[in-house]
Amino acid sequence: MQFLVLGGSGRTGKLIVEEAISKGHSVVALVRSPSSLAARPGLTTIQGTPTNHEDIMRAFGALPTHPDAVLVALSLKRVSDSPFAAISPDAPDRIMEDSVANAISAMKDFGTNRITILSQWGAGDSWSSMIFPLRAMFKHANMKYGLAAHNALDEETRQSGVEFVLARACVLADGDAAPIRVYPDDGTSIGLFPKVTRASVAKFMIEACEKDDFVGKSPVISN
Ligand SMILES: NC(=O)c1ccc[n+]([C@@H]2O[C@H](COP(=O)([O-])OP(=O)(O)OC[C@H]3O[C@@H](n4cnc5c(N)ncnc54)[C@H](OP(=O)(O)O)[C@@H]3O)[C@@H](O)[C@H]2O)c1
Repeated sequence: MQFLVLGGSGRTGKLIVEEAISKGHSVVALVRSPSSLAARPGLTTIQGTPTNHEDIMRAFGALPTHPDAVLVALSLKRVSDSPFAAISPDAPDRIMEDSVANAISAMKDFGTNRITILSQWGAGDSWSSMIFPLRAMFKHANMKYGLAAHNALDEETRQSGVEFVLARACVLADGDAAPIRVYPDDGTSIGLFPKVTRASVAKFMIEACEKDDFVGKSPVISN
C-alpha cells in the first residue's frame, strides 16, 4: 500500500514511517525539515507543512499512484516534552484540525478513502473512563489544550464523510512494540493508569489501514 504520513518527523510519526516501510509499504512523508527523516528505499520526503493546502496537494501527487490512506501523528507543540508544559507560542491553534481538514479535502480530490489519526484517551466519549484525578488534570493543567484539539478533530473527522480510524492512545511511553489491548470507544474497563508504547501504537495504526476492523471507530488502546 501507499501511505501519506503527517507528523512523520515526530516521536510516534517516525515509528509509523519505519513500521510501514518494514512491512513493504511505500510512504510519502510531508515534513517541515526533510533532514528529520533518514533517506531510505520506500520513503519519499516532501518539504512543507500540512497546514498549507498546496503542500498537502504536492504530497498527494508526489508519486505516480496516489495514497491508499493518510496517517496522522501531529501534535500541538509544547515548549518542552513534558506533558505539563505550556503550548509553544508559535504553535498554530488549529494545527491538527486544519491539517486534517486539508488532508480530507485532498483525499476527496485524489480518491483516497481512509485516514487513521493518533488521537488520545479522554477524547469524546472516552472521557468518562478516566478516573477523577486524571480528569482533573486534563481539565485544569496545560494538557487541556491538547485534549480540546483532539475533541475538535474527533468531531470534525466524523462529519467529513471519509473512512476514519481514531486511535485513542492512552499515555505514550518509549519501548518496544508489545501486544495491544483494544477497548471500546468509550474506554470501558481500561484501568487506572494505562500506558502504551509508541512502537505499539505505530503497529496498530498501520494495521488499521491494512484491515477494515476499526473503520468508523475510535478504540481506546493500551498495552
Ligand atoms: N503524550 C502522550 O502521552 C499522548 C497520549 C495519547 C495521545 N497523544 C497524542 O499523540 C500525538 C503525537 O504525539 P508525539 O509525542 O508522537 O508528537 P511529537 O513527537 O511532538 O511530534 C509532533 C509532530 O507534529 C509536527 N508538528 C507540530 N507542530 C507543527 C506545525 N505547526 N506544522 C507542521 N508540523 C507540526 C512535528 O513536526 P516538526 O518535527 O517539524 O516539529 C512532529 O512531526 C499528539 O497528537 C498527542 O496529543 C499523546
